[in-house]
Amino acid sequence: MSSSKIASSKNSPQLSRKHDPQSMSESSSSVDGRSYRESQTSSYDGTRQSSTTTSMYKPLSLFSKKSGTASDDKKKDEQPNLLRRLMTKTSNPKENPPPKKGPQTVKELAARTLQSMDRKEFNIGDFTIKKTVGTGSFGRVHLVKLNNTGTYFALKALRKSDVIKMHQVEHILNEKSILAVLDFPFLVGMLASFQDPGHLYFVLEYIQGGELFSYLRRSGRFENNVAKFYAAEVCAAFEYLHARHIVYRDLKPENLLIDAKGNIKITDFGFAKIIKDDQTWTLCGTPDYLAPEIIKAKGYGKSVDWWALGILIYEVCKRHYPISKPKISTDDCWIPPFSDDDNIRLFEKITACKLRFPEGFDKKAKDLCKCLLTPDLSKRYGNLKRGAADVKGHAWFEAIDWDRLMRLEIAAPYIPKVAGEGDTSNFETYDEDYPTYGGHGKDNYKDTFKDF
Ligand SMILES: Nc1ncnc2c1ncn2[C@@H]1O[C@H](COP(=O)(O)OP(=O)(O)O)[C@@H](O)[C@H]1O
Ligand SMILES: [Mg+2]
Repeated sequence: MSSSKIASSKNSPQLSRKHDPQSMSESSSSVDGRSYRESQTSSYDGTRQSSTTTSMYKPLSLFSKKSGTASDDKKKDEQPNLLRRLMTKTSNPKENPPPKKGPQTVKELAARTLQSMDRKEFNIGDFTIKKTVGTGSFGRVHLVKLNNTGTYFALKALRKSDVIKMHQVEHILNEKSILAVLDFPFLVGMLASFQDPGHLYFVLEYIQGGELFSYLRRSGRFENNVAKFYAAEVCAAFEYLHARHIVYRDLKPENLLIDAKGNIKITDFGFAKIIKDDQTWTLCGTPDYLAPEIIKAKGYGKSVDWWALGILIYEVCKRHYPISKPKISTDDCWIPPFSDDDNIRLFEKITACKLRFPEGFDKKAKDLCKCLLTPDLSKRYGNLKRGAADVKGHAWFEAIDWDRLMRLEIAAPYIPKVAGEGDTSNFETYDEDYPTYGGHGKDNYKDTFKDF
């Protein structure tokens, strides 16, 4: 499942909320339990037409629930809510070279498989769809089997007409071009992308362990060492992305998958963008993860990702209440540092940035959160001259051996139960009611998606 996202424009910071999971009606303003959209058409990033999809973020109170399956938890998720992402100065790619992933990357596998089929591209007929494992803002993610090799992948399928209606063409083209160049252990790998007259498809590594969000829900919050492990992998991934001038802009536990060995894989590059030395203005992401500079529509860069990391750390870390004070006060109950059902009020809170920490919050984690959750970009860790090195060198990460982390030598705190390559038990169950893919008719969107 995905959380709410929004995108808006530099010139029109006011958000309008629109409902419509399937029909994508542009006029309704009601909110349907799980997903609702915020859509706004106006130019953004200088020239583009933008719209935003807002899926809802989980109600904060549910984060502290200790039991229930991922599926149970998600069904309870009936309140609209938040969004997220980030930007800044980058580090030297040489400082953080991607480690070798083994003899065969997904891209090599794609090349070899296509060669053996004597083809340049895959098509939907090359895959057998097994099950839906996620529904996104514009389409679905399925577990599929590549018929030629019997290998499992995740297939993200998006209906072209929906992408156009929601003004997400540029975002989808960005998603494809960025996924095509990524090769890093904590980022989902893409085997291939292709299209037919009705749909766009991303063939991704299938990550069996499910969303970090589901694990977080089951755990309540994470012990310090667990939170630190996941945050460190995200930090390394951001260092890799930023060194390549890519801002991610959609950090949240729903977009963090856990692989079979317990490592993080960031998925969903729908808001990722290459921003070289310039800035971007799009109001997009998940509301409670939005950095103040996004809300202020001033133009922003990679700093927004470091802010979002601060929100993530704040959100997932367990608070250890003193035995003498077992009763949790209402002040301790808010979960992300800034929270409100009303987005406008939420944005006011974010820009006011009055950061408070509940009792029992680890002191070093608190200090790092303060270094990340500062609206002052000349002080925000990750955004300073040393880039990610300031975050990696913070006392909270003292115990992390970054070289070993990159070589995947640090034992993960949680190994998901995975019965086999095609196991979907760590994902929620979705209805399988979706239109048939494929088709050879006229492609009315040929020009729009010629670069896909
Ligand atoms: N490579 C993958 N392997 C397994 N599940 C995935 C993968 N990619 C996405 N998913 C699942 O599908 C959901 C929606 O995909 P996502 O790319 O986040 O779409 P959206 O942009 O609409 O949020 C994710 O939250 C996750 O549960
Ligand atoms: Mg997502």
